[in-house]
Amino acid sequence: MKVFDYLLPKPVTVIPQPGALRITPAFTVGLKGAPGKRTCAGVSRFLARLAGRTGLSFLNHKPLHEPLPETCSFVISNRRQGKLALGEDESYRLEIGPKQAVLQAETDLGVLRGLETILQLLTADQDGPFFPAVRITDQPRFPWRGLLIDCARHFQPVEVIKRNLDGMAAVKLNVLHWHLTDDQGFRVESKVFPRLHQEGAAGAYYTQEQIREVINYADLRGIRVVPEFDLPGHTSSWVLGYPELASAPGPHHPEIGFGVKDTLLNPAREETYTFLAAFFQEMAALFPDEYIHIGGDENNGRQWLANPEIQAFMRAHGLPDTHALQTYFNRRLLAILTRLQKKMVGWDEILAAALPTSTVVIQAWRSKERLWQAAKMGYRGILSHGYYLDLMQPAAFHYQNDPLAPAEGAPADELTPEQQQLVLGGEAAMWTEFISPETIDARLWPRAAAIAERLWSPPAHCTPEHLDRRLARVSLHLEELGLTHEKNYPMMLRRLCGQWAIEPLQTLVDLCEPVKNYERAIQCPDATIYSPLTRVVDAAPTEAKAARRFHQLVRRYLSTLEQDPTVEASNTQAGENESLWREIKAQLTVWHKNHTALEPIIKSAPLLHEIRSLSAALARIAGLGLDILALWAKQQNNEPLTLDPTFFQQLKQALAAAAKPRGQVELVVVPAIAELVETLWQKLNAGPGRN
Ligand code: ACM
Repeated sequence: MKVFDYLLPKPVTVIPQPGALRITPAFTVGLKGAPGKRTCAGVSRFLARLAGRTGLSFLNHKPLHEPLPETCSFVISNRRQGKLALGEDESYRLEIGPKQAVLQAETDLGVLRGLETILQLLTADQDGPFFPAVRITDQPRFPWRGLLIDCARHFQPVEVIKRNLDGMAAVKLNVLHWHLTDDQGFRVESKVFPRLHQEGAAGAYYTQEQIREVINYADLRGIRVVPEFDLPGHTSSWVLGYPELASAPGPHHPEIGFGVKDTLLNPAREETYTFLAAFFQEMAALFPDEYIHIGGDENNGRQWLANPEIQAFMRAHGLPDTHALQTYFNRRLLAILTRLQKKMVGWDEILAAALPTSTVVIQAWRSKERLWQAAKMGYRGILSHGYYLDLMQPAAFHYQNDPLAPAEGAPADELTPEQQQLVLGGEAAMWTEFISPETIDARLWPRAAAIAERLWSPPAHCTPEHLDRRLARVSLHLEELGLTHEKNYPMMLRRLCGQWAIEPLQTLVDLCEPVKNYERAIQCPDATIYSPLTRVVDAAPTEAKAARRFHQLVRRYLSTLEQDPTVEASNTQAGENESLWREIKAQLTVWHKNHTALEPIIKSAPLLHEIRSLSAALARIAGLGLDILALWAKQQNNEPLTLDPTFFQQLKQALAAAAKPRGQVELVVVPAIAELVETLWQKLNAGPGRN
């Protein structure tokens, strides 16, 4: 693969040119047009990263301003400063020649996007670092490319948000959806209603100064910040300090568990709206973005149905059910937001014809159909269904999910071009019931980058070939920004072992993944915000690359067995077959012996007890795999064979036992071993040495 093939997200057009722009200490950046604080700060970060990767000390650490010398290595121009708002121009053109690179954009947002592209092109050979010559034109497919971070279930300190904003900027995501309030915590300081954060956050909240700091940090990276205040459900933290907002009598207790809770704000009391008007006035001044997210999801209606005052209110207003009451509540909220010159975003539950299409954006999380349904009703929308990163699906799963392609199994009832225009983009989502500041980066990256490409690049460019290699390269660049997705893994394994030597544990955990979808929550119904997130399941890779590599090895080996032995190249094939066989045998031998090495560590490591039987199961199936390989070798050598049918039964049982999750982790190498042993067993039974 060429360096251009690694660009992520893929630009609209990339035309390689002959030659390269060599980078020396004399490298200079010059600014033309209307550079502002975003361009200047962006160029400073660019130069620092360039210096960090090349090891060069540049003579000019700061950009030059007009009039620029002809020798300027990298000329950047933007016509105006962008407005950090939905739909602003983010396009850019990048032309790199042997003497000079030129980055042109309408706005400084386009400049920032182009700077990330050129940094991805940085390469080196024996003569030193260079940018390959190229012509690139680029612009996003969708204007809303977001990442939701839930800071309520597990508070994520400012440093976590900042480093992830850097990660977002690196892959051209442009909206931080900051989920600030939920049952488990009210994470933003309110000066108007201080008991919200004082009673509702157990001390873990962002001060308004920190909020402004994050917004400024995001702005300098061309990222909008859309806050979410989830209403009327998910509000247990609100009613601790202000019980008069509640639909049910107290006493109210801090919510430390997960799942859908009953607490709902009381939509029948006028005081609720007076409170929310004052609250949103404060928040509208704090958050400059035009959009405020009001949540609206998972209202189970129970407290409304159980409250006679609310029931009477519904009858008096002709509201037949709790959805109609929620729509009433949303209309009141919308009136408040509109007075504050804000528009509303809400989860797809809020979809109702009684809301105006001009000021409400629907975020579809339950299905893609909800997004399309919204578009057909005239609402703008964003897709999050299929982009929930906390559900531990592989990058390729998220990557294939296109907002404008019909969902699998759904009728291909196309959206009209006008309806397609209403689809603004999508958001990756990181819910943090089981995610700590220590694990969040590994659950976000590099998979969020796959979603970033889906939302930026033309759909025809989004082909899955080489996605893993491309993400692996992006991962290196993300580490340079301070993200901890790679480096926390060995640290967590050290803590699990209680010692420096982690090799046997890593050998096992490299082959494990956390259980997927909502399985962890189902298996741990008693989990709370205080449950430790330092277990094997927390350290385990989201995508176990070692297991995948072994599966590829097995497939390659098995394919050599299918080839015709009479063809001329049979000697080469036999050689390849032999070396793959040896490689597989060596790998299975390591796994077979691993339990003996891990067992003494497990004894004195309480957090490892839950995976003891998993470790034993790996040793067992690897051992059975070695037995089959030995039988196969015998048959190849025409030695007499006895095939005991109960052996295969044992093998099937061992594989089934190994496939069962322990401690919410799965041994994902099991299917590869199963494919190997089952195929070889069939061949043995069909083969000549059989008796
Ligand atoms: C959601 O996941 N409840 C929006």
